[in-house]
Amino acid sequence: MKETIILGIETSCDETGIALVAGGRKILSNKVATQIALHRRYGGVFPEVASRQHVISILPVLRDAMEDAGVSWQEIDAVAVTYGPGLPGSLLVGVNMAKGIAWSSNLPLVGVNHLEGHIYSSWLETPEAPEKPRHPFPFLALLVSGGHTELILVERHLRYKRLGGTIDDAAGEAFDKVARVLGLGYPGGPAIQKAAEKGNPKAFHFPKAKLRMAGEFDFSFSGLKTAVLRQVQKLEAEYGISNGGDARRLKPGEGSPLPEQVVADLAASFQRAVVRALVEKTQKAVERTGVKYVCVCGGVSANKALREALHAAVTAEVIMPPLYLCTDNGAMIASAGYQRFLAGQTSGLDLDVVPNLRLV
Ligand code: KG4
Ligand code: ZN
Repeated sequence: MKETIILGIETSCDETGIALVAGGRKILSNKVATQIALHRRYGGVFPEVASRQHVISILPVLRDAMEDAGVSWQEIDAVAVTYGPGLPGSLLVGVNMAKGIAWSSNLPLVGVNHLEGHIYSSWLETPEAPEKPRHPFPFLALLVSGGHTELILVERHLRYKRLGGTIDDAAGEAFDKVARVLGLGYPGGPAIQKAAEKGNPKAFHFPKAKLRMAGEFDFSFSGLKTAVLRQVQKLEAEYGISNGGDARRLKPGEGSPLPEQVVADLAASFQRAVVRALVEKTQKAVERTGVKYVCVCGGVSANKALREALHAAVTAEVIMPPLYLCTDNGAMIASAGYQRFLAGQTSGLDLDVVPNLRLV
């Protein structure tokens, strides 16, 4: 019997991703046009530039994904698209493309939550792991990206329970902001990881944030970011560097005036603090829920120190998608869309974008 084929479209932030996935797990093609180089000069994603670039990229990426998969329009069963959370102008490009395809090819339209997409990235088979066994429910999802830091219990398909999340900055956002303060460029995660390789993670002690009023599984990274900023200002004063008194004034692409080794030590110490917070809460959630599997997803799960620490400290089996599925892509949207399609949860052509869409 022919497997159900879903076309997945992702444009919630700065990647234009389109993929074809069969049976919810088998990637037939997965094409991503990244805008990282475009946003580097701004030191972060510039929303207006992002949506315009999606408009430019989306048709070539679609053509590429169709050609690579070698399937005809008649073989596709549904179109799944991210409709939130994300940047409104960026989401609109993907949603309108999906509506156009659904209308012209008479296909069902499936709206997918971006966070749900990240969770399903762990479900996909890859050339590295073909015929990967399914991890049974329930499992825990640690979702760490530029916009989100969430601990979610996945009870069964499409059934989620939020255990906790960040009360201020997302983990990836903290990496991006601290990288800016350290003059390490954009995106911050990979830049900090690289600088940290040469640094001493115990050089600076950044205290863990005290979480008053927050839940047991909540995170806070904004205090940590401020602690790094204060330390940088103190060091600049010690080195006699005048930076207008504010390290935040570094322009994108401008390196730190501090010695390279000091920056490496700061990066390593900051990374250690983030990793410790994420690992500790995850292990606590494993103990509380008794789950046997933890899926780690979202752009920050590309972080090598985090991957190693989770494998070492978490008592459940840690499942991590390959790096190209950790960052935004269309395959994860197609995989989540497949489950919604099976459950009969299709949308009409009036599907609207929901920039602040929640998962639970
Ligand atoms: O999931 P994602 O591609 O986009 C969102 O939905 O946000 O995540 C992007 C985030 C950025 O903040 C980036 O700095 C971070 O993931 N990131 C990393 C690494 N690679 C990407 N953070 C830490 N270490 C990395 N190696
Ligand atoms: Zn994402």
